[in-house]
Amino acid sequence: MNRETYLELVKNNKEYIEKVNSDPNRLKFHLMPPTGFMNDPNGLYQKDGVYHIYFQYTPFNPDWGLKTWGHYTTRDMLAFKEEEPFLYPDIREDRGGVFSGSAYIAENKIHFFYTGNVSHEDAEGYDDFLVGREQNTIKVTSSDGFNIDKKQVLMRNEDYPEYMSCHVRDPKIFTKDGVYYIVLGGRTKENRGCILMYKSLDLETFEFFDIITTKEKFGYMWECPDLFEIDGKLILVTCPQGVKTDGYHYENIYQCGYFILDYDFDTKKYSISDFTELDHGCDVYAPQSFVDEKGRRIQYCWVGIPDAEYTNEPTVKYGWNNAMSMPKELSFKDGKLIQTPIEELKTLRVNETIYTINEFEDVNVNDTLYEMRVDFESNEAFNLEIRKNVFLEFKNHLLTLTLNESGSGRSARHLEIDEVKNITVFSDTSCLEVFINDGEEVFTTRVYSETVSKPRFKTKNTGEIHYYPLKGYEYSSL
Ligand code: FRU
Repeated sequence: MNRETYLELVKNNKEYIEKVNSDPNRLKFHLMPPTGFMNDPNGLYQKDGVYHIYFQYTPFNPDWGLKTWGHYTTRDMLAFKEEEPFLYPDIREDRGGVFSGSAYIAENKIHFFYTGNVSHEDAEGYDDFLVGREQNTIKVTSSDGFNIDKKQVLMRNEDYPEYMSCHVRDPKIFTKDGVYYIVLGGRTKENRGCILMYKSLDLETFEFFDIITTKEKFGYMWECPDLFEIDGKLILVTCPQGVKTDGYHYENIYQCGYFILDYDFDTKKYSISDFTELDHGCDVYAPQSFVDEKGRRIQYCWVGIPDAEYTNEPTVKYGWNNAMSMPKELSFKDGKLIQTPIEELKTLRVNETIYTINEFEDVNVNDTLYEMRVDFESNEAFNLEIRKNVFLEFKNHLLTLTLNESGSGRSARHLEIDEVKNITVFSDTSCLEVFINDGEEVFTTRVYSETVSKPRFKTKNTGEIHYYPLKGYEYSSL
């Protein structure tokens, strides 16, 4: 697909757009695809005050399909403008899809790196693992985030180390002491997940630097790496595939989390921590972060997971699927990444009411859109019905999110935790983001309740509730 075919298809799609917008599950303060399918956030940056949020986008089909990069811009993270897709599969090396990638601003230019995917299903011996897939690392530059220079193929499968399978993708730039590193997610021929690091002094030529993996195999493929330093720690966020559920860990089909690295860039000696899950809900994957002009490290996640069993989303019959998390500011405290919804989101609050947990019983609210912060006075068990059929229960050091019929195939997710001091629930029409203990833990999930009931507590615990009905983002479409 190129720009002309895209525009032609959009012109003939008024009915499709209307159908999508008639869905009561359309979100109010989460980004979602204008039509069709959204997955990973890509190429995030802020330049001259404007945030650019690109994403994996299949505009004319609510299923996994030929990927372009969709595009939103915003100045304030509250009013978003839909822009024309930014990258299309229009060269030989990306004809099977413009896959995920990232952006880096240097010398007033935006340098984009992405994976050009090509499948050769008719190749002899095709197995989509060792044979039959090209994953090319491609670069484009742009001075405005809308128009691009010529696509430049930096690396092809034969340029990756010989021990790699066909799966090497999702470039992200990391800088250290004036040197650029590109990290790529990968799967070795021995079926182990890993990260490849390439080094560059000019963002033009890259030489192989190192491979990072765990001592014991941890999954067969690591997707979407994001390497960054925060508060003095080197963090590698990635999405391992092929990790089995282990008690209350790794309950989703694919994982999303991080390792803490202790890496010596001179000797390449490193140690890598255990893996920590970033989210305990049913729907977080492919996070990407960037540093904005205020110096904050902001992360967006895809609210969705590839190959999840709950693919029959109620939104699909309206012609769209998936969403983006709220933007979250990252920090590091007591050995953990902390996720905090960015401050701007407070502007969505319509008003504030403060209740005790007891008083809240008698209150009559009926909003789907709200933020609710609860500070507990002790560590008693509780059961919070967030909305019809959706429960967050804390008992015997276990926090359980249960979705029942409202999960559309999602059942329950768990977190072992000693103490719940506070929770903050962000409720959108069909998405919940629940922050525990000031963002130490998070549960993100899609949710589809036909009727929305007021949040209700069953607990002997006491505490204070700050309740805010929310308004939605402003959107302007193409
Ligand atoms: C992760 C992912 C990436 C890939 C992209 C394709 O969700 O599979 O590895 O680049 O999606 O859309």
